[in-house]
Amino acid sequence: MVATFAEIARTHRLQEEAFARHQEALLAGDLGAARRWLDRVAEHLRAHAALEERHLQPIYERGDAPRGGDPALFPGEHCKVERFLARLDAGLAAVAGPRDRIALFDVETHFKGLLEHHFGREEDLYFPQIQRLATEAERRAALDAFAAEEERLRAWLGAG
Ligand SMILES: [Fe+2]
Ligand SMILES: [Fe+2]
Repeated sequence: MVATFAEIARTHRLQEEAFARHQEALLAGDLGAARRWLDRVAEHLRAHAALEERHLQPIYERGDAPRGGDPALFPGEHCKVERFLARLDAGLAAVAGPRDRIALFDVETHFKGLLEHHFGREEDLYFPQIQRLATEAERRAALDAFAAEEERLRAWLGAG
């Protein structure tokens, strides 16, 4: 159940957990599990960004953007995440030995920094502004969609 826009932050934490599962598998040299978790993270991040752009962005664009929260930033960061996901996908496919795994971890550190920055900006600026601007009908439609998304991620994390 997601009742306020601020609670979408819970999904961000679950996405971070899913990425940690990928990194644990990569560290252990279990490339099958590393691939499975990376694919889940990618699928989920794409679905999440699509929900934000469909349900939240139009609401956000109605208001005066807070300082540091230009409306174009959010879809722009989604594009950056998308480009990074392609790099991670190719990097994992090329892993043949420990040095390749180290190189992939280095790229993944930058990816985690990007996500941390993006999630932080959404949680500090985007969600509070949308909470102020959304009508009750918009709130219900959006948060139902995010609740379904959160459930899917929880099911993956529970099943391992
Ligand atoms: Fe986002
Ligand atoms: Fe988000």
